[in-house]
Amino acid sequence: MVKVTDLRKSYDSSAGRVEVLRGVSLQLARGETVALMGPSGCGKSTLLNIMGCLDVADSGSVKIGEQELVGLDEKSMTELRRKTVGFVFQFFHLLPTLTVRENVELPALIAGGLSHTAAERAARLLELVGLNKRAGHRPHQLSGGEMQRAAIARALVNKPAVVLADEPTGNLDSHNGEVVLRVLMEVVSEENATMIVVTHSAEVASKMGCVLHMADGHILP
Ligand SMILES: Nc1ncnc2c1ncn2[C@@H]1O[C@H](COP(=O)(O)OP(=O)(O)O)[C@@H](O)[C@H]1O
Ligand SMILES: [Mg+2]
Repeated sequence: MVKVTDLRKSYDSSAGRVEVLRGVSLQLARGETVALMGPSGCGKSTLLNIMGCLDVADSGSVKIGEQELVGLDEKSMTELRRKTVGFVFQFFHLLPTLTVRENVELPALIAGGLSHTAAERAARLLELVGLNKRAGHRPHQLSGGEMQRAAIARALVNKPAVVLADEPTGNLDSHNGEVVLRVLMEVVSEENATMIVVTHSAEVASKMGCVLHMADGHILP
């Protein structure tokens, strides 16, 4: 389902060139869940951002199904970002002026969905993440755990084949972290999506199908 081959990425800064990804390869089957672990700065977010079409690689290949991501034009990247991947961020990134329901519906509407279809799908997901009673609230009225559950519903609204979660419990206390992780696993498994979760938590990692360790721009064997 997901195949990354010899992926390379460096950034130029005033301090010189930083090689962040130095030939990353990995392969995931449909429905597989993986934890990605490694020290801060080793390139985990860069890898996820490239896989999620939020950043571009220098060379190598990222394939989701038959679709090659590396080298795509801006328009195709935007399309893939909307329809093929679902992103969950450490700091939720919900839109503050929209209600929970509107936050979840928005990606479906942007992707060209009919408003009643988006509404039905959002309602179902909000039920799944246990937020149906909070659908009319704005993000600031929710706890961190609830905001992340809303963000999970939003990430899944377009039925992405791949879910990328960058430290999804990193900003939550352990109880809320557990609830959020359980909800994430349930929703992803119901959709049979492939998921990569970046985490520093051994507890979180133990819930995934397998664990990949990254150091210094490489996936360790
Ligand atoms: N846009 C950028 N410009 C310059 N350097 C960057 C940029 N994004 C990330 N980096 C650098 O790349 C390295 C890896 O960053 P990142 O992928 O965020 O690591 P991780 O998520 O594993 O903590 C770090 O040294 C970081 O400073
Ligand atoms: Mg990071």
